[in-house]
Amino acid sequence: MFSSVLRLATLFATASAIVEPLNTTILGPYGSVPPVYPSPNATGAGGWEDALAKAKAFVTELTLEEKSGMVTGIPGPCVGNIIAIPRLGFGGLCLQDGPLAIRIVDYASVFPAGVSAAASFDRQLIYERGVAMGAEFRGKGAHIALGPVAGPLGRSAYAGRNWEGFSPDPYLTGVAMEETILGLQSNGLQSCAKHWVAYEQETQRNPTYDTSGNLLQESVSSNLDDRTMHELYMWPFANAVRAGVSSIMCSYNRINGSYACENSKALNGLMKEELGFQGYVMSDWGGTHSGLSSIEGGLDMNMPGGLGLYGLIFGANSSYFGGNVTTAVNNGTLDVTRLDDMVTRIMTPYYYLGQDRDYPLIDPSTADLNTFSPRSTWFTDFVLNGTRDVDVRADHAAIIREMGAASTVLLKNVNNALPLKSPKSIIVFGNDASEDTEGYYNQADFEFGTLSVGGGSGTGRLTYLVTPLEAIKAKAQADGALVQQFLNNTLIATTNISTLTIPQSPDVCLVFLKTWAEEGADRTSLDTDWYGNEVVESVASYCNNTVVVTHSSGINNLPWADHENVTAIIAAHYPGQESGNVIADILYGVSNPSGKLPYTIALEIDDYNAPPITAVNSTDPYAWQAYFDEKLEIDYRYFDAQNMSVRYEFGFGLSYTNFSLSGLTVAKSDNSTVSSVAAAQDTVPGGNPGLWETLYTVSVGVANTGAVSGATVPQLYITLPSSAPAGTPPKQLRGFEKVNLAVGGAQTVEFPLMRRDLSYWDIVAQDWVIPSGEFTVSVGFSSRDIKLTESMTVL
Ligand SMILES: *[C@@H]1O[C@H](CO)[C@@H](O)[C@H](O)[C@H]1NC(C)=O
Ligand SMILES: *[C@@H]1O[C@H](CO)[C@@H](O)[C@H](O)[C@H]1NC(C)=O
Ligand SMILES: *[C@@H]1O[C@H](CO)[C@@H](O)[C@H](O)[C@H]1NC(C)=O
Ligand SMILES: *[C@@H]1O[C@H](CO)[C@@H](O)[C@H](O)[C@H]1NC(C)=O
Ligand SMILES: *[C@@H]1O[C@H](CO)[C@@H](O)[C@H](O)[C@H]1NC(C)=O
Ligand SMILES: *[C@@H]1O[C@H](CO)[C@@H](O)[C@H](O)[C@H]1NC(C)=O
Ligand SMILES: *[C@@H]1O[C@H](CO)[C@@H](O)[C@H](O)[C@H]1NC(C)=O
Ligand SMILES: *[C@@H]1O[C@H](CO)[C@@H](O)[C@H](O)[C@H]1NC(C)=O
Ligand SMILES: *[C@@H]1O[C@H](CO)[C@@H](O)[C@H](O)[C@H]1NC(C)=O
Ligand SMILES: *[C@@H]1O[C@H](CO)[C@@H](O)[C@H](O)[C@H]1NC(C)=O
Ligand SMILES: *[C@@H]1O[C@H](CO)[C@@H](O)[C@H](O)[C@H]1NC(C)=O
Ligand SMILES: *[C@@H]1O[C@H](CO)[C@@H](O)[C@H](O)[C@H]1NC(C)=O
Repeated sequence: MFSSVLRLATLFATASAIVEPLNTTILGPYGSVPPVYPSPNATGAGGWEDALAKAKAFVTELTLEEKSGMVTGIPGPCVGNIIAIPRLGFGGLCLQDGPLAIRIVDYASVFPAGVSAAASFDRQLIYERGVAMGAEFRGKGAHIALGPVAGPLGRSAYAGRNWEGFSPDPYLTGVAMEETILGLQSNGLQSCAKHWVAYEQETQRNPTYDTSGNLLQESVSSNLDDRTMHELYMWPFANAVRAGVSSIMCSYNRINGSYACENSKALNGLMKEELGFQGYVMSDWGGTHSGLSSIEGGLDMNMPGGLGLYGLIFGANSSYFGGNVTTAVNNGTLDVTRLDDMVTRIMTPYYYLGQDRDYPLIDPSTADLNTFSPRSTWFTDFVLNGTRDVDVRADHAAIIREMGAASTVLLKNVNNALPLKSPKSIIVFGNDASEDTEGYYNQADFEFGTLSVGGGSGTGRLTYLVTPLEAIKAKAQADGALVQQFLNNTLIATTNISTLTIPQSPDVCLVFLKTWAEEGADRTSLDTDWYGNEVVESVASYCNNTVVVTHSSGINNLPWADHENVTAIIAAHYPGQESGNVIADILYGVSNPSGKLPYTIALEIDDYNAPPITAVNSTDPYAWQAYFDEKLEIDYRYFDAQNMSVRYEFGFGLSYTNFSLSGLTVAKSDNSTVSSVAAAQDTVPGGNPGLWETLYTVSVGVANTGAVSGATVPQLYITLPSSAPAGTPPKQLRGFEKVNLAVGGAQTVEFPLMRRDLSYWDIVAQDWVIPSGEFTVSVGFSSRDIKLTESMTVL
């Protein structure tokens, strides 16, 4: 969202003819942007009819100036603000960050990050997280939550914002988007699926200018083919639209050379026509780079519009939209029907979700905490009659703790190291174990203090944070145990531990490592921070029962994973405010870990492909080009296609109990002949409804064969027939289900396979096509731990 390099840019587009601001000469193999005009009107299809009618009626009451105001943000109490029209009983719109918490308020909860939610592989919990989070946004008077995130998807292991979203697997991310949106919106809150699309790195995400404001270089351009777009980056957004998401945020990057917020193929073509999106497209903050071109290209709302603090810095509170929209309609360059559709799209979700009835007022605390548009930047009076400092946390700590446990991934557990068995002597190592020294507002990579979330607009404002050390001490006290801590990583890494005043045979050494990531910067390393590798080596050379816990944004290099004294490894990701309780529950066996890796941990750092583009040294303004030449080969699709060994594969995670799978069956939904493409039908949100029809149901039995209760995740992978085009991944996730089982318990799990799940995107037919020949259905406990397979022929 916010950007440190926001800039008022050049001129409002002038011509009445529509010109794609596109430089085709530098696009290499991926050509250009196929122009898609005009921008489609909302149709109300798929249950939005009544809301659309109300929105249209509202628009007929508006003056031209009011319409221009409705599509343009202004500085105000929230991170984004649309002005009220009291004359019509419209109280305005309050837009608030972000994907794991309502950020700019007090007394709100900080939930597990997207990467943690994904690691839970638990649809129900992801939904419940959405419900609880949405209640907090609503309770604070926010109309629109700026989340969830499906872009970045995770093309590159290094991308700074991967943790805000879910997983580089589009199916898993698609399910997580859908459940989160349904949960958030069950509160009558609007959600915003972001960032659309192919926004896969932070480096050069915004253009750069010299000190006089002349453009030096445009944003990085993600150049990708149509199949990759559909099967990877667009896929989870289709789930979002199908779930009824209210808004879409276009991203900072260019796509095939054209800015995402004015790319007519992406906005008019893919989002509004193909996916049948009924809501509105808003720009990322500062992501608008033109007026008319953006409007014709499909952008409906410019954020933050009048630029607030940045407007003051750059000497104006002007906007490409706002007054320019009024002028453009008056002078005949913009047809008012397009403006009407923009406002209609903005108001349709408002009515759809009942926000015209008894919606809570904005908590004035947000205005005090808002550094993006502080009061000094407001040029409009906001009446803040809401209750101040409303505590919206309710009992959400319980679901945060539950999801924390469900998303904790146990990667290694030898010598029966975990769960702990009432250890009498415990040594805790690492600067991630304890309190931070500078408050809880996670905006920096501080040395001391446990990490529970990352930074930028996707962070949360903690009201409290339970640290690992604090929670471990509480458990250890019950055993009358000795707990010692060494929190200085430099000291640990450079000292022979046995020379410290320390027990010479501790029962267990717990090492807490962290990895920071934030918006605006890509990671420069995949190692854990603060000499994590050296810390582990040092502790493990002294302690034969070393348990390593990482609090991390995602992928880490784990070169010490096979060390004989490293008996257990836990990837705890970013669990939110209950972090310490979560890890203590896992360590002591109060919770049985059931998280699975939502990405692959490679053997070596150099094994990862598709790094971000960095260090471009050129005076060519179009020099920043990211060619997605790996196409569909990201994460496990790449390692599988290249037949590479990995350290811990996608979908992997251990438990304190054992599970078995049996009785794989594949059943066709009905006996009618399946066609290779879906019959033409009216588009509804999500696209052709035929794509979402269940054609087959796969079932499998799961049993808990171990000694304690626990949960696991049977996973279904599909291998398309060899008739599918070259580049088709060896196998792709197409089903998963979290199953909780008591000792000896068993259950049958069903995986519905929809048409889209069995198809590839055909760039010639411009449709999803089911290939002829034999499919392989594989079910197992990870992408490389396949237990059962079946074959089937669809056509
Ligand atoms: C119209 O857009 C231009 C930028 O192209 C800006 O300089 C000007 O201030 C805008 N006008 C208004 C009224 O916002
Ligand atoms: C397009 O890019 C090329 C190479 O970077 C540059 O020489 C040319 O001037 C650009 N054309 C336009 C219209 O910007
Ligand atoms: C990008 O270029 C490819 C190849 O020319 C084209 O098929 C695709 O539609 C383009 N996508 C966008 C969003 O411009
Ligand atoms: C949108 O609807 C208006 C009538 O309300 C019509 O004049 C206009 O042509 C429509 N635009 C498109 C792109 O269909
Ligand atoms: C911003 O615009 C408003 C109304 O157009 C004006 O009253 C105000 O002085 C402007 N503020 C700045 C800082 O330019
Ligand atoms: C119409 O208004 C827009 C927005 O201010 C401006 O950019 C454009 O040059 C104007 N066109 C004409 C023909 O006056
Ligand atoms: C805010 O409260 C004041 C005082 O109670 C009242 O006069 C005013 O109408 C309220 N305004 C709004 C927008 O609710
Ligand atoms: C951490 O240990 C190093 C090496 O012994 C020392 O130089 C540094 O001052 C210590 N930091 C703190 C905060 O104590
Ligand atoms: C493992 O720990 C023991 C102490 O218990 C130590 O003697 C041994 O050297 C360690 N092994 C390695 C490879 O560091
Ligand atoms: C670790 O070393 C202790 C003695 O220092 C020994 O009793 C214990 O069995 C060892 N544990 C493992 C897991 O090797
Ligand atoms: C960038 O390129 C110029 C010209 O080739 C060269 O002089 C300069 O050292 C380069 N800078 C960096 C940081 O590589
Ligand atoms: C399909 O046909 C078979 C045999 O004709 C029949 O047993 C089965 O019930 C049918 N299944 C469905 C879903 O209609």
